[in-house]
Amino acid sequence: MSGLRQIGLALATAAGLWMAGAAAQAQENVGPTECKDCHGAEYKVWEGTPHAESYKDIHKRDMADKVTEAVGERSMKRSETCGQCHYTQAPKKAGGRVGNNFGPSCESCHGPGSEYINIHNVYGPKGTKKEDETPLHKTQRYKEAAAAGMRWPRWRDDIPDMPASVNYEVAQNCFNCHGMARDSLDGDTAAKMLAAGHPLNPDFELVKYSQGQVRHRFYDSQTENKEMTPAELSRWFVTGQAASLVQAENAMKKTSDAKYVAAQKARASKAVAALKAVGMPEADALIAAPTADNARALVAKIYKGNMDLTGKVGSMLPSKSEYK
Ligand code: HEC
Ligand code: HEC
Ligand code: HEC
Ligand code: HEC
Repeated sequence: MSGLRQIGLALATAAGLWMAGAAAQAQENVGPTECKDCHGAEYKVWEGTPHAESYKDIHKRDMADKVTEAVGERSMKRSETCGQCHYTQAPKKAGGRVGNNFGPSCESCHGPGSEYINIHNVYGPKGTKKEDETPLHKTQRYKEAAAAGMRWPRWRDDIPDMPASVNYEVAQNCFNCHGMARDSLDGDTAAKMLAAGHPLNPDFELVKYSQGQVRHRFYDSQTENKEMTPAELSRWFVTGQAASLVQAENAMKKTSDAKYVAAQKARASKAVAALKAVGMPEADALIAAPTADNARALVAKIYKGNMDLTGKVGSMLPSKSEYK
C-alpha cells in the first residue's frame, strides 16, 4: 500500500494526470460487485438501467448475430470488438476468470478500479475519519487516485490543481461508446457494423441521456439523488456538445465509408450550432479547430467561472419528460 501511494504521488506531480489511466501499474476492472458494499445507492440506480440489464439479453436481439458476423466473429458475448462498448471485462467474482461478465458498469465510467479502490477512500493514517482529513492529504488522495486510473466524477474547486476540464473527460467517455467512434474501433469495422444495421444514434445528447434513469448524484447524502440546477444543466449541455464535436471530427477521418461519414457530419453540425449559441471566444476557437485541448479550455472556463449559460442555450435543452 505505501509503495503504491509513493508511486502514485511521484506520477501525480506531472501534468495531465487528472486524466484517468496515466499511471504505469496494470489497471484492471474489479467488477461492479466490488463497489456495491460501499456504494449501495449508486449500485441500485445502475442495476435498473439498460447498462446493467442489457447484459442478460442483448446478444439475443435480432441484430446481434448479424452484426457479429459482419465483423467476422461468432459470439457477441465473447467478442472483443463488442466487448469494448457492451461489456465490462472483469471476473464475475474476485479471483475468477476475466471475461465479458457484466454490461457497461461503474468502471466503464469511473475507470478500472484495481489500483485506486484502496486509495480513493482513505482519509489518512489508519482510522482517520473523513472530517479529520487534512486539506493536503485530500489533494494528494485525489491526485493519486487519478494517477491510479480513477476518473473523478466532477470538478471541485476545493482541490487545488484539479483542472476544471475534468468534466470534459467524464463527458467524453460517454461518447467513446455512444457514437460508434471510440479510438480503438477502426473505421472499417465501424462501417461494417453500420451496414449490418448497428445503430449510430445521432440523438445522443448528454443532458437527455445522463439526467434520467442513469443519474446518480448522491454525494454526501446517500439518500437524495439530486437533480442538476438549470445553470448546471446548461454547463453540462455545452460540455456534451464540445465532446460530441471533437469526437465526430476525429471519427470522420477513420474511413471514407459514406454512411459513416455522413452520420458523423450530422453530429458535428448539431454540435456546432449549439456551440455557436454560446458566443464565447473559447467556443468559437473550438468550432474553428475542434481539438480536445480547445474543448478542455472551453469547459474549464465555464466551470471555473460558474457560468449560467441558460440564456444562451436554454432553448436547446431537452425537457425533463424527454430524459432517457
Ligand atoms: C470500502 C468502501 C469503498 C469501496 C469498496 C469503493 N468505494 Fe468509492 N468511495 C468510498 C468512499 C468512502 C468515498 C468518498 C470519498 C470522499 O469522501 O472523498 C468514495 C468515493 C467514490 C467516488 C467519488 C465520489 C465523489 O464524491 O466525487 C466514486 C466515483 C467512487 N467512489 C467509485 C467507486 C467505484 C467505481 C468502486 C468500485 C470499483 C468503488 N468506488 C469502491 C468508498 C468505497
Ligand atoms: C463503439 C461502441 C460499440 C461497439 C464497438 C459495439 N456497439 Fe453495439 N451498441 C452500442 C451502443 C451505444 C448501442 C445503443 C445505441 C442507442 O440506442 O443509443 C448499441 C446497441 C446495440 C444493439 C441493440 C440494438 C437495438 O436497437 O436493440 C445490438 C444488438 C448491438 N449493439 C450489437 C453489437 C455487436 C454484435 C457488436 C460487436 C460486433 C457491437 N454492438 C459493438 C455501442 C457499440
Ligand atoms: C462502455 C460503453 C458505454 C459507456 C462508457 C456509456 N454507455 Fe450508455 N450505453 C451503452 C450501451 C452498449 C447501451 C445500449 C444498451 C441496450 O441497448 O440495452 C447504452 C445505453 C444507454 C442508455 C439507455 C438508452 C435508451 O435508449 O434506453 C442511456 C440513457 C445511456 N446509455 C447513457 C449514458 C451516459 C449518460 C453515459 C456517460 C455518463 C454513458 N451512457 C456511457 C454503452 C456505454
Ligand atoms: C454511464 C456511466 C456511469 C456508470 C455506469 C456509473 N457512473 Fe457513477 N457517475 C457517473 C457520472 C457522470 C457521475 C457524475 C454525476 C454528477 O455529478 O452529475 C457519477 C457520479 C458518481 C458518484 C458521485 C455521486 C454520488 O452518487 O455519490 C459515485 C460515488 C459514483 N458515481 C459511483 C458509481 C458506482 C459505484 C457505479 C456502479 C454501481 C457507477 N457510479 C456507475 C457516471 C457513471
